[in-house]
Amino acid sequence: MNASRTLFDLAGRVAVVTGGNRGIGRAIAIGLAQAGASVAVLARNQDHNRAICGELTQLGARAVAVELDVRQRAELQPAIAQVERTLGPVDILVNNAAIAYVKRALDADEKSWDRVIETNLTSVFLLSQIAARSMAPRGRGKIINLASEYSIFGAGSIPSYSASKGAVVQLTKSMAIDLAPANIQVNAILPGWIDTDLTAPVKHTAQYDEIILRTPAGRFGAPQEVAGAAVYLASDAANFVTASVLVVDGGYSAR
Ligand SMILES: NC(=O)c1ccc[n+]([C@@H]2O[C@H](COP(=O)([O-])OP(=O)(O)OC[C@H]3O[C@@H](n4cnc5c(N)ncnc54)[C@H](OP(=O)(O)O)[C@@H]3O)[C@@H](O)[C@H]2O)c1
Repeated sequence: MNASRTLFDLAGRVAVVTGGNRGIGRAIAIGLAQAGASVAVLARNQDHNRAICGELTQLGARAVAVELDVRQRAELQPAIAQVERTLGPVDILVNNAAIAYVKRALDADEKSWDRVIETNLTSVFLLSQIAARSMAPRGRGKIINLASEYSIFGAGSIPSYSASKGAVVQLTKSMAIDLAPANIQVNAILPGWIDTDLTAPVKHTAQYDEIILRTPAGRFGAPQEVAGAAVYLASDAANFVTASVLVVDGGYSAR
């Protein structure tokens, strides 16, 4: 077997991808499956979950669809238990599910604030805690959190999203420090502007041209262009990489 195949091989590993039924999560689920992992797709729309699991099975991977709203705290542990009963102990957790509400600070209401923080931040902590409790006794694990350009920059129109994603980076670093003795690596991927449902509304605004001009690559990225970063961070190639933020943004954050 050649060196790169060994380094990035995920055969025998079990991965959980929240929000794995479309967009970046779907591309990551496919990337992990192509690298040999068994993959659980956790999201609210079970029809979409099953559809992607069908694709993963076609690729030769074991896959399970789990209907889950990550805001339902009491359902998180049972969801991971279901994955572990079906595929085996979790080795890789990708905290990818997220939402954004366009609501400027003076217009924002408490309900939308809570929804964003619960989905984008609280679930990341709670799922990481549940997964790490399973990983720690086995002395191995990978947690990968999806950050954002708005982990770095402020965003006048989406303050709750920006706050949640800034916190995700600090949570990543904090859990990485805490879990390092258990040989669990915790890292974040920071995608730039990627072509998904989340960013579709931007395409019809003046912001779109601004983004293209500012991005050295001169375009939005495709979801599959984020998948390689997840495969790398999930693999033995990244065993000495922890508390890091891997930027995949076509150069956007360089200026
Ligand atoms: N697209 C970008 O340009 C970009 C840039 C930077 C960072 N990101 C980050 O990358 C990640 C994926 O973004 P995306 O653009 O692929 O988003 P997307 O296309 O809107 O997909 C979001 C995914 O999250 C799931 N989801 C949303 N709320 C959920 C909940 N309460 N419980 C469970 N699953 C839930 C959705 O499935 P259901 O609706 O079926 O639940 C869907 O699979 C997010 O963390 C986002 O912040 C994206």
